[in-house]
Amino acid sequence: MRKILLSVALVLAVLALWLVISPPRFWLNLTKSVEPTVMVGAQLVEQNNCRGCHRIGGEGALKGPTLDEVMRRQAEADPAQVTLRLWLRDPKAIKSNTAMPNFHLSDSQIEAILLYLQEEAATAAK
Ligand code: HEC
Repeated sequence: MRKILLSVALVLAVLALWLVISPPRFWLNLTKSVEPTVMVGAQLVEQNNCRGCHRIGGEGALKGPTLDEVMRRQAEADPAQVTLRLWLRDPKAIKSNTAMPNFHLSDSQIEAILLYLQEEAATAAK
């Protein structure tokens, strides 16, 4: 009986570690589902401190590229935002030595962030 309990505990521990260290997309989408709106995007950019590295809406640091420009460039080069979506899912999948961390964002969180970045880029252009 003790052996069974121990095995079950071990399996649960490994499962928990997996979901925390390398959460798969189905898990992120299940646990981090949000309303994809500009407001939610603004909150996510705040929480994850994107402005600690990026200039967004004319505000923020310059450790990474200015996202206002990135959004404008992408609007012409890749209107479907395929690259941006892939990037936000997993930066290292596109550039293995990037300084940008993986924020483990769900699909709807990525949607919200892109909406917010787009709006900020439009405001900064004025
Ligand atoms: C620790 C610094 C850091 C943080 C925090 C950070 N980034 Fe980045 N990001 C970078 C760097 C550096 C690059 C440029 C890629 C490279 O050369 O590694 C980048 C690239 C990007 C790109 C791609 C730009 C392009 O040229 O296509 C996007 C989009 C982006 N970041 C969005 C975000 C968002 C949204 C957040 C917040 C959730 C964020 N970043 C947080 C450092 C950071």
